[in-house]
Amino acid sequence: MPTESPPQTLVNVQIDGVWRQFPKGTRVIEACEQAGSYVPRYCYHKKLSSPGNCRMCLIEMGMPRMGPDRKPELGPDGHPVINWMPRPQICCAQDVADGMAVRTNSPLVEDCRKGVMEFLLINHPLDCPICDQAGECRLQEFSVEYGTSASRFLENKVKKPKAEQIGPRVTLDDERCILCSRCIRFCEEIAHDDVLGFVDRGSHTVLTAHPGRRLENNYSLNTVDICPVGALTSTDFRFKMRVWFLKETKSFCTSCATGCNTVIGTREDVIYRQTPRENDAVNSCWMCDYGRLNVDYITSERRLLEPRVLSGDKLAVTDWRNAIHHVALQLRHFSGWETAIIASGRMTNEELWLTAQLARTLGVDLIDIVPRTGPGDDILLSADRNPNANGGRLLGLTSEPGARLGEIADGVKSGRVKTLIALHENPLDIGLTAADLTSLPAFIVLDILENAATAHGTAVLPGFAFAEKRGSMINGKGRLQRLNRALRGPGNARDDWEILRDLLQALSGSNGLYSIDDVFRQMSESVPELAGLTLSKIGDLGVDVMRIDQSPAPPSAEKARDIEQAEANPPPQRTHA
Ligand code: SF4
Ligand code: SF4
Ligand code: FES
Repeated sequence: MPTESPPQTLVNVQIDGVWRQFPKGTRVIEACEQAGSYVPRYCYHKKLSSPGNCRMCLIEMGMPRMGPDRKPELGPDGHPVINWMPRPQICCAQDVADGMAVRTNSPLVEDCRKGVMEFLLINHPLDCPICDQAGECRLQEFSVEYGTSASRFLENKVKKPKAEQIGPRVTLDDERCILCSRCIRFCEEIAHDDVLGFVDRGSHTVLTAHPGRRLENNYSLNTVDICPVGALTSTDFRFKMRVWFLKETKSFCTSCATGCNTVIGTREDVIYRQTPRENDAVNSCWMCDYGRLNVDYITSERRLLEPRVLSGDKLAVTDWRNAIHHVALQLRHFSGWETAIIASGRMTNEELWLTAQLARTLGVDLIDIVPRTGPGDDILLSADRNPNANGGRLLGLTSEPGARLGEIADGVKSGRVKTLIALHENPLDIGLTAADLTSLPAFIVLDILENAATAHGTAVLPGFAFAEKRGSMINGKGRLQRLNRALRGPGNARDDWEILRDLLQALSGSNGLYSIDDVFRQMSESVPELAGLTLSKIGDLGVDVMRIDQSPAPPSAEKARDIEQAEANPPPQRTHA
């Protein structure tokens, strides 16, 4: 029986003179923001505990004046008369209460903010021109908005360590740290790796890693995202690109089945960084370092740039028209039962859908996708490293990834399979040898990187990487999400759905698919779970389309130890192959 959630208790709160209602339990700082009165903050982060240590969120606060009957006195407007507290209060560590009133823009509040900004800046090096955070630094922004242009500080600034490598991926400039403790709390509360702390309390307080420890857990780069100033920077991104030059594209990570939502920062068709994008149904505000940095393969020298077909005993570069014609000829040469398809859980739904059409057109039954696993954790990283195995299941390309790969390998070895189509997968990984591939009369490869198998192809077709295309995938929890194109593909490589569409067209005539939206429409008309959806209706945050029971059991003590070890030794940066 469906259970109804209990009705929310609403409380009345006056914000800047206007009475509004908020659910009980709302933080005052959030209530102010919802009411359109943004309160500046440094230490507060909505996904972390609230220590209230930076004092940037000072406001005026009051509570109803009680009459002799211990009931709130009401004014002529019927609302409580407010007793304002004589001193300002922080609003990040307190929940709303019925009858509460706050002022976020009074002269006292403005004075407080000026004072806090002046105090925070007395020892700050003010090296914005050479700081990597410039352009997205809260200290810069709040200085302009709430600070003063002058400082009364005449003494020498305290000098603190600069450009310290506190972990393999994070650089610390202690001089810039405003001691907000967000990074410390993130490590304790989210990454479960209590590695950072403050030492030498007083005006020389510095942030550091505990003795003998390094900030090297697999979530370390989230500290860079939440550091409100340029104290923690990404060693990988540091000094490579000014942030205001970056084009930002909303997408998601395809390095595991979680599908963390991201913003891809590019300039001139190069990815400079990936940062997490908030989605409470998927990744909260975080992503792992492994997925974040796993983009270098896109610009690898091994990228396939031109379609090639076998000419004599060599693969020769050709144009797409000839390549498609050549592949169609090869495919027509053998019957469906002599053909096998190895597809990939890294392909989009649209590509998998067209692959299924191709299989149907050719009469191919022997088809599967390749499972891909690695160590997972109980934070975000999934042990299933395929971003779209669920797409393969939903679209009928596999019952369970890998179930038929043995049959495919046996078919090739025995000579029953004459044509092998490998889509974004290396058949050498499923137990086939180079000799097996060379013995195939037709071995058609669609991939993005050259590998040991591509050299044996009778046709090699260069496709696009995840950041170069639009399309959709279904994550491990059954949520349909949308990839957006962040950069153009290199050389003569083509979008995979177009390659598959052209092949289908060459084999069976016109198919009326002129855009990827057409492919999605066709798919949604046939797959009940996708009915009524379009690529644009998926939106930036995705839609649940499959029910998957994945409620994780709480980790055992043994498992918790494994996780700690995995975090201490994060998986190496992966290549696509
Ligand atoms: S390094 Fe950044 S996040 Fe950490 S305490 Fe300092 S200012 Fe805050
Ligand atoms: S948890 Fe998975 S999807 Fe998220 S960033 Fe890491 S690899 Fe990517
Ligand atoms: S944001 Fe409230 S004290 Fe820091």
